[in-house]
Amino acid sequence: MKELINLINEKLDEYMQITYPESIFKAMKYTLMLPGKRLRPIMCLETAKILGCDINKMLPTACAIEMLHVQSLIHDDLPCMDNDDYRRGKLSNHKVFGEANAVLAGDALLTFAPQLIIEKSEDLSMTQIVRILHEYTKFAGAYGLIAGQVVDIESEGGKLDKTKEHTLDFIHLNKTAVLFRLAIRCGAIGAGADDKTIEELDDFAKKFGLAFQIYDDIMDEISSFEEMGKTIGKDKNSGKLTYVSLYGLDSAKRKFKTLISECYDIIEKYNSEVFKNIIKKLESKVGD
Ligand code: IPE
Ligand code: IPE
Ligand code: MG
Ligand code: MG
Ligand code: MG
Repeated sequence: MKELINLINEKLDEYMQITYPESIFKAMKYTLMLPGKRLRPIMCLETAKILGCDINKMLPTACAIEMLHVQSLIHDDLPCMDNDDYRRGKLSNHKVFGEANAVLAGDALLTFAPQLIIEKSEDLSMTQIVRILHEYTKFAGAYGLIAGQVVDIESEGGKLDKTKEHTLDFIHLNKTAVLFRLAIRCGAIGAGADDKTIEELDDFAKKFGLAFQIYDDIMDEISSFEEMGKTIGKDKNSGKLTYVSLYGLDSAKRKFKTLISECYDIIEKYNSEVFKNIIKKLESKVGD
């Protein structure tokens, strides 16, 4: 796992060159190079690997997905969104570079990511590149992440009908699970997997993504700034619709555990230490 993270960090640094006008490239690179867990690019590369593909082929796509994720974090922290001053243990992008540059840095990452896939994926076929770009554009926009973020913001202050369970799942599946789906689906496409395999792994990604956001919601309640690198207790303060706010901490933990055990069932046959380690780490943090 450490080796994969080092490889991803090395490539992110290489792909994200600082050029004129430096202010925008520095803002893009700042949050990108802070020590995130790199879960999405790891999962993209590991999916390719378990399906028999040389991971080097998928490095541009894996890094592009991390750039999209970082875009979502920079915009998520803006005062008009979650208004968070810290990210990855350091000041948020807009606190360092100002709001205008943070908005532009997010936009620039969102557009540089597909540019990178097109320019650097010389080992993928044109068909694979088009399929990957289709996945990217679908999940990054109003049919994916943005849809989730919009409903998340609309849920603040208890404004939405909290009895609507499907609203909560809609938020979590869109704002969070789509990026894990994107990572895993692209890894599978790069490996030339058949549709049945892609759909099976996609099911894993949806369940993992839902579990991951429930984990994040639980951590917002029980963890610390030192551990998470971001302000804790924000969801409660802003009245967000989360598994914890709707069902309570114990039920949220139970739901997390059920989803995680379904994830194990799907991924078991692929014998991946990396996937198992990622899941185990989350489980240990959530506790009993
Ligand atoms: C944070 O994602 C946003 C959520 C989906 C909860 P991560 O917890 O993966 O953030 P980094 O990349 O490690 O900073
Ligand atoms: C995660 O939502 C989804 C995105 C950032 C797109 P949160 O708002 O819970 O993420 P954190 O807690 O700020 O990382
Ligand atoms: Mg948010
Ligand atoms: Mg947030
Ligand atoms: Mg959160």
